[in-house]
Amino acid sequence: MTLIDEINRLKKEKSAVILAHNYQRPEIQDSADYVGDSIGLSRRAMEEKEAKIIVFSAVDFMAESAAILNPDKKVLLPTLGARCPMAQMLTVDEIKRWKVHYPLVPVVLYVNTLASAKAYCDICCTSANAVEVVNSLDAETVLFGPDHNLAEYVHRKTGKTVIPIPERGFCPTHLLFQPEDVQVLETKHPDAIVMVHPECTVEMQNVADYVGSTSQMCRYARERNAETIIVATEEGIMHRLRKENPGKQFVLAYEDAVCPNMKLNTLERLYTALKEEKHVVTVPEPVAKRARKALEKMFELKN
Ligand code: 13P
Ligand code: SF4
Repeated sequence: MTLIDEINRLKKEKSAVILAHNYQRPEIQDSADYVGDSIGLSRRAMEEKEAKIIVFSAVDFMAESAAILNPDKKVLLPTLGARCPMAQMLTVDEIKRWKVHYPLVPVVLYVNTLASAKAYCDICCTSANAVEVVNSLDAETVLFGPDHNLAEYVHRKTGKTVIPIPERGFCPTHLLFQPEDVQVLETKHPDAIVMVHPECTVEMQNVADYVGSTSQMCRYARERNAETIIVATEEGIMHRLRKENPGKQFVLAYEDAVCPNMKLNTLERLYTALKEEKHVVTVPEPVAKRARKALEKMFELKN
């Protein structure tokens, strides 16, 4: 029996499903029941009514959101140390400090935050709906964290004052992309179009034909009639893009754009997690209750 056969056997035996982020290794994506972006994964986790176990192959904050939204299910993270550094950049103390200065200003938090931080915000957003979320608020100024590049993107799209908290929260992987590298690639592929994740710098956003979440990029690539597409997000997405579009050419805008945290998950670790039912992601109910409210508010919006 291969490892994949074993995983499939355990899935049946334990009524488990595997949800994987677009940045996961190809073999994990291929054995998952669903592959998607942060919002797609959260939605799918809520739709899995029959499942008793959700193996969430991604990083800490995504699995935490699934646990918050599905308190009656066991949510497993294949690797305990798979943590998003950006999510660690915004603490509850920092949010409280900003709230002292701006007591009447709503706090919008990117889902790339810990549950403890989400418990102190008014509404959550993802890269797929940040603009709609901020537009939905009856406020001209918002506190927004932790990604300052996404904050700037939202400011430019909504015209509202978007105050980044902390001042310069960032994703180390997306900072690797530089417009100069795109220019070099464009000389080699003059007809190529460019897709950029909003966690990239504003300079990168400026050279993009399209800015969107990972799954929005996948949709855009399917629908757009282009032979070559330059991609500025983590390299794991290339597997899905190539699989869904065999006739198109995809070029990563920076070859070493790897999120080491996402890549901690391997098929072996996923198998062991499912077999031994570890590492269970739990969020204390008082925190989960408040964080759930902020997540549900986001889901109430049509997006
Ligand atoms: P998406 O929601 O676009 O998949 O982004 C999640 C993420 O962590 C990007 O670095
Ligand atoms: Fe976090 Fe960046 Fe990795 Fe996404 S790519 S999980 S934001 S470190």
